[in-house]
Amino acid sequence: MEYKNIILKKEGKLALLTINRPKALNALNSETVTEINGALDEIAADDTVLAVIVTGSGKSFVAGADITEMKDFNSVEGRKFGRLGNKVFRKLENLEKPVIAAVNGFALGGGCELSLACDIRLASTKAKFGQPEVGLGITPGFGGTQRLARVVGLGMAKELIYTAKMIKADEAFRIGLVNGVYEPENLLEEAKKLANTIVANAPIAVRMSKVAINRGIQCDIDTATAYESEVFGECFSTEDQKEGMTAFVEKREKNFKNK
Ligand code: CAA
Repeated sequence: MEYKNIILKKEGKLALLTINRPKALNALNSETVTEINGALDEIAADDTVLAVIVTGSGKSFVAGADITEMKDFNSVEGRKFGRLGNKVFRKLENLEKPVIAAVNGFALGGGCELSLACDIRLASTKAKFGQPEVGLGITPGFGGTQRLARVVGLGMAKELIYTAKMIKADEAFRIGLVNGVYEPENLLEEAKKLANTIVANAPIAVRMSKVAINRGIQCDIDTATAYESEVFGECFSTEDQKEGMTAFVEKREKNFKNK
């Protein structure tokens, strides 16, 4: 598919999704959110893609939803835009492949929320995070009121959202919003290294782990652990389980086939 505001590139077993509207610091207008939706469908349908990296062009990751587009919205248009963002970011969160956000610069509002819909966040030393919405007279609208607290805890999420303040990468690391901070020139390589470490493992087991974690987090512990037992059992029907354990016993390299 052809895109105007994003770039979707394949590199071996990885898909690299770059938000590419650098003149507007990669702000998300509805066209860009719709393109991300299309890219996610492409990635989901491509069995050769085993992991995804999301990043931004230029000095920004994503500086939020597009304020120029939202400025004159009425409540019907606001709700429609919020639902679009939430639908697409939920699709990203539920994508059955691991997704790493390589946060190269501003990750504000919808940008912070985009990174939160990814499984893992890595940041460059130049990254800045924040939920500035209340300073614009709105609430976070693409999942920020829900996912930020799940990642950094209620107190920290409320402080960030109520104050609308921006934090630097080292503070984001300290509060557990990002898993690592790297020099800007190394960020993408580090994200690829992490993605390649993940894809060296059995893809079905990684995928099922993601589904079990995401489902379990919204259930009571009995339902969640019962679901874990189901997917754990299901793994024993895969060729890769036999390969992984046989290779261990035979003390040889594993050769996973995603089967
Ligand atoms: N929407 C639309 N345009 C944006 C934008 C946004 N979120 N963020 C930046 N831009 C545009 C600017 O208007 C500017 O355009 P022009 O060159 O045409 O004037 C261009 O990008 C460059 O921006 P700045 O000149 O402001 O760059 P800077 O380096 O001085 O400042 C910044 C960078 C601190 C990130 C500043 O641009 C900023 O504060 N941006 C807005 C951040 C924000 O409030 N995001 C939340 C949006 S609301 C939201 O996301 C709701 C939701 O939850 C879904």
